[in-house]
Amino acid sequence: AAGLAARPGQRPAAAAEVSASARLSIVYGSQTGNAKRLAETLARQAEAQGLAVRLVRADSYPLRELKDERLLYVVISTQGDGDPPDDARGFVEHLLGKRAPQLKSLKFAVLGLGDSSYPQFNATGRQLDERLAELGAQRLFARGEADLDVETVATPWLAKALDGARDELKSNAPLATVTPLRPAAAVSPWSREKPYAAELLANQRLTGRGNRKDVRHLEISLEGSGLSYQPGDALGLWPKNPPALVDAVLAELSLDADAAVDGAPLRHWLDEKRELTKLARPFLQKHAERAGRDELSRLLQPEHADGLAKLLATHQLIDLLQAFPAAWSAEDLVAALRPLAPRLYSIASSQAVVGPEAHLTVDHVAWDAPGGRRWGAASHLLASSEEGARLPVYIEANERFRLPRDGSRDVIMIGPGTGVAPFRGFVQERAAVGASGRNWLLFGNPHARHDFLYQLEWQQALKAGQLSKLDLAFSRDQQNKVYVQDKLREQGAELFAWIESGAYIYVCGATTMGRDVEQALLATAVEHGGRDADGAREWLAQLQQQGRYARDVY
Ligand code: 2AM
Repeated sequence: AAGLAARPGQRPAAAAEVSASARLSIVYGSQTGNAKRLAETLARQAEAQGLAVRLVRADSYPLRELKDERLLYVVISTQGDGDPPDDARGFVEHLLGKRAPQLKSLKFAVLGLGDSSYPQFNATGRQLDERLAELGAQRLFARGEADLDVETVATPWLAKALDGARDELKSNAPLATVTPLRPAAAVSPWSREKPYAAELLANQRLTGRGNRKDVRHLEISLEGSGLSYQPGDALGLWPKNPPALVDAVLAELSLDADAAVDGAPLRHWLDEKRELTKLARPFLQKHAERAGRDELSRLLQPEHADGLAKLLATHQLIDLLQAFPAAWSAEDLVAALRPLAPRLYSIASSQAVVGPEAHLTVDHVAWDAPGGRRWGAASHLLASSEEGARLPVYIEANERFRLPRDGSRDVIMIGPGTGVAPFRGFVQERAAVGASGRNWLLFGNPHARHDFLYQLEWQQALKAGQLSKLDLAFSRDQQNKVYVQDKLREQGAELFAWIESGAYIYVCGATTMGRDVEQALLATAVEHGGRDADGAREWLAQLQQQGRYARDVY
């Protein structure tokens, strides 16, 4: 048996060479990196147990091998309206489609990731889990549905997955067969679990005074942290809840801020351990029972999904408590609320220009509810922090959103609103490294006068030739709405020519915008590329597969 163990310096057999019956395949689809991180963790743990593991991003998975798989774990997130992550669209379409193979010899389990403040919570994980069973595969154990506090569900699921794989593969597992996994990124002691207390260097308002929108440009120091990033990456921030909101919740429920829950005062839980600004279905359900209000319970039924979505989008915990009073003890409240999760912001700078800093473009989320002013937790923390404040941050790599390695390629950047953030980093980077390809930016916002974010910088970049083309869609400056996709359609011929000559397309911003822009891209291939609807979809899927169509939508 000793001969099977890999000796130092000897290249171990790749899991791909191990027959499917002796191997665990882990397929992941990830939008913000959580699913990828968990899939990698599972792969590492399984390998440490001597199991043969194949870890594959869904868009690199050879679909024709599916029918030969014996053991498959799928770790997959769901985006906004119940869509799969971009890197799993083909995989999901294939499995859900008519041409999916029968999978009678397959054993599987699914871990879904999502955000329960969206009604289509974990839709992709659920669809795949149900579909695999429908195709004849045997579910090893129940689907996990992780929420923003990913680890709460993921940790026990991973433990089960590891046990399951060991049981299934033990008898024929080759010893110490190791798939060479990508080595961990550059070493910094700071991570999601252990964030770095970074100094805020600048906090400037980008939108005009008197404007109802408050968009901030923030500069954060990473000096001495060892943290580094690539254009396209995100900065993770652990927020705190607005103090006024915590006070309001305590007052509404007549709870004592110092009441001890699990050894910590209630105020501490509400300040930084529990979600107060994003309401979610599980809490709503518990609250409806307590409040004994039928109109709330009704919203939880499938036929009222729209009403539920609207309520979740417009109400925070405090609004719910005020509108539908019910008693909560400190312990029950802490147990029922979701743990506070970090927020991700696309980084708006390039280290080639700003060195050890990360810049952000942040919309200060705020509105007036009947019961008072409401804020988003992280954006309010950022907007209200003064220079010199310390913020707990880390870097979340976004490998699907990368500039072309070949600097002579053209890039098309579509980023209305704060979606423009990563493109400030892209343009900085391309200028700093002397990339010769053309840069086309499409930006939109309500009014040119108030919210032309980074106007001077774009104008300077145009003058310096660092930006080749700038299209602006100020939606409310004229009678009819004008959006970035309208600018794309107007210039369909030129757009198509850029893409056919090898341009990369990037889209960042709201989910609905992302969908409409995609329609415009498809229309371009029909009108200017002579394709039919199916052909256009195939064309775009291929661009996506090649990393030439990347989206960061939220
Ligand atoms: P609106 O608010 O005037 O409708 C950034 O938010 C910009 O994106 C705004 O100008 C906004 O316009 C616009 N926008 C809203 N919905 C959009 C969509 N579906 N597609 C593209 N742009 C959109």
